[in-house]
Amino acid sequence: MYKSFYNLNRDPFEITPDPSFLYPTKRHNEALAALYYGVRRHKGFVVLTGEVGTGKTLILRCLLQLFKKNDDVAYAYVFNGLLSPLEFLQYAAADFGLAASNKRKNELLFELFRFLIDRNSRNLTTVLVVDEAHLLSDSVLEEVRLLTNLETPQAKLLQILLVGQPELDRKLDSVELRQLKQRIAFRTQLAPLDLTETRGYIENRLKLCGANSHASEMFPSQTVAAIQRCSSGIPRLINTVCENALIAAYAKKLRSVTPEIVEEIATEFRLSLASPPRPEKTDPIDESEMRKAAQTMLEGSAGEMKGSKLPKTVATDSRRVGE
Ligand SMILES: Nc1ncnc2c1ncn2[C@@H]1O[C@H](COP(=O)(O)OP(=O)(O)OP(=O)(O)O)[C@@H](O)[C@H]1O
Ligand SMILES: [Mg+2]
Repeated sequence: MYKSFYNLNRDPFEITPDPSFLYPTKRHNEALAALYYGVRRHKGFVVLTGEVGTGKTLILRCLLQLFKKNDDVAYAYVFNGLLSPLEFLQYAAADFGLAASNKRKNELLFELFRFLIDRNSRNLTTVLVVDEAHLLSDSVLEEVRLLTNLETPQAKLLQILLVGQPELDRKLDSVELRQLKQRIAFRTQLAPLDLTETRGYIENRLKLCGANSHASEMFPSQTVAAIQRCSSGIPRLINTVCENALIAAYAKKLRSVTPEIVEEIATEFRLSLASPPRPEKTDPIDESEMRKAAQTMLEGSAGEMKGSKLPKTVATDSRRVGE
């Protein structure tokens, strides 16, 4: 609606997680690197958590896009956390292309094991990706633990990525799941954006949609500060506020979105000014190999993920729990 008025060639603030819009903050880079490295180095089990709307699914989609380019990687992508153990295994097996319907659990596990042994013997990598993993029941998490046991004396046969909201961290920290927790190779977290990142994020989206020098005119500094306050730096909320603010500014034929417009939108959307908790500081992991692997990966995908660069302090917020 407002696109031609602002000289844009597509909508900048859609809330679907579209990899072509990735703005590589330090944390998003680190998360992508940890997941990619964990899989490529056959670390077995990696966990990514983050508040609602911070970009977890987007990072997964970027990762799956990278895997699609690697002939040696096959993945199953489970994005429904509300499955029974049998449904979970059926879903994963079917997504790997195995015949899964009407099979019992032990038959499915046998099929899966055969499939994994065969792929491993051909030096191929197999990944199970679970989004919304905070919704998994304890009994499904127990299945996940059993899947992490599928290994030869030399290697883990299945790489598992669990991605979910902070409740997943709390679940994994519970006494009942300590066996699963001990198998995690990397844990990494996403966080809301700070003010500088929010500015870069908004500009990046506008520029990808054709705005050049007028990106900062559309959202001047004080407006960005107001957006940061009412969104608490959560990317999905930033998108919603920006989209609605642009519509309101367009209705008034304003070239710039004012802080007052942002405040009106914030009131309409009942956005609180309270910030969500920042993830706790964790020990750095010293993984130069991981940085190298991820840098190569990001450079190789420069077309889709413009500007992604692995920061010097890669994975400073990831922690290795044990292998
Ligand atoms: N680094 C980023 N660069 C560009 N867009 C981002 C970034 N992080 C998040 N977004 C955008 O924010 C929105 C929410 O992202 P996403 O759906 O991945 O969040 P989520 O963490 O999976 O949320 P939920 O917990 O509800 O599943 C999407 O539009 C996504 O494209
Ligand atoms: Mg998501």
